Amino acid sequence: MDAQKVMQLYDDYVVGNYLRRNLVITKAKGSWVWAADGKKYLDFFPGWAVSGIGHCHNRVVRAVQDQAKKVLHVSNNYYNELQGRLAERIALNSFNGKVFFCNSGAEANEAAFKLARAFGNPKRNEIITMKDSFHGRTLACTAATGQEKYQKGFEPMPEGFKSVPFNDKEALQKALTDKTIAVMMEVIQGEGGIRVADSDYLRFVRQLCFDRDMLLIFDEVQTGMGRTGTMFGYQHYGIEPDIMTLAKTLGGGMPIGAMVAQKKIAGMLAPGMHASTFGGSPIACAAALAVFEAIEKDRLLANVVEMGHYLQDELVRLKGRYPIIKQVRGMGLMLGVELIVNGPKAYDYCLAKGLLINCAQGTTLRIMPAMTVTRNEIDLAMTVLSEAIGKC
Ligand SMILES: Cc1ncc(COP(=O)(O)O)c(C=O)c1O
Repeated sequence: MDAQKVMQLYDDYVVGNYLRRNLVITKAKGSWVWAADGKKYLDFFPGWAVSGIGHCHNRVVRAVQDQAKKVLHVSNNYYNELQGRLAERIALNSFNGKVFFCNSGAEANEAAFKLARAFGNPKRNEIITMKDSFHGRTLACTAATGQEKYQKGFEPMPEGFKSVPFNDKEALQKALTDKTIAVMMEVIQGEGGIRVADSDYLRFVRQLCFDRDMLLIFDEVQTGMGRTGTMFGYQHYGIEPDIMTLAKTLGGGMPIGAMVAQKKIAGMLAPGMHASTFGGSPIACAAALAVFEAIEKDRLLANVVEMGHYLQDELVRLKGRYPIIKQVRGMGLMLGVELIVNGPKAYDYCLAKGLLINCAQGTTLRIMPAMTVTRNEIDLAMTVLSEAIGKC
């Protein structure tokens, strides 16, 4: 089917809640995607980090194909080896907790809210989040997200959430009440424009939560699974959360989300209190196990660190050339280039020249290539990015 016909089908039958570019993708591999007209694009924002280990990674494709011949779905009233093995893999790579599986980041966060509420019930039910955070699009996640633009038009918001400025100890302390049960944040705000948590702040929040018997929840939906150079973003900081949420890269392209809780609180969700029909299906778990295998066997964390430094150095060099670059920030392969002008012009130029990136908060170019990215691919991207910024 030609691209025009595909776009027409969307116009006629798909709800128009996304801002879509005129690009019909038919094939993808590694850092590259192909359009219906045969044009090849270098993808430095693969599926909003879903294809974090590159599109159609061989290990993931093989695992999904093999599993599809055995069993696609097993109801959560029964057992399947893969869900257990994946939970073990996540636990051993993080803080030895227990895992609830679902299908997306928002659902993982919903599970975290419910666990926190169950923990605080009946006296404490308020969750403090950060300004400019992003936690998903369900109503509760929208309420948790510290950005009014996502809430506007959907009021009234569910109760029990309030947000405070990020990295501001005093604001957090002031916002606490005897109803506060949890503090939730991303260790690097993605939608917020690649804003990194101060280590001093994270240690402070950790201690505050210990002292007041509150839960610390890290939304690692974007930072998790190696993106920042450690398996999970919090591991840079030498502290542990009580709850962590995952999605995106976890499934290597298959839909899966996870809420990971310390063992001592995980039991608060007893049978019947929470569920997800599709959660932890063998096919999604097979894909996620293959993602772990790829990260470990192909030494992807080392590549993230090495290529992350290389890319960051290149971006800093670009900043030296173009005064319209205000700041380069981020960690590993989660990088942001903040401009003093609007970002969409640079984004559009990159798209026209065959480079896919993202723009957050209107002025920050968000660059998150696949964890398999090569030096050569970075060089290609930098050539286009440099031209794009030169045109701004
Ligand atoms: C930090 C963070 N949390 C949660 C979500 C929501 O994930 P999903 O779209 O899978 O529901 C996102 C999505 O971009 C995210 O970046």
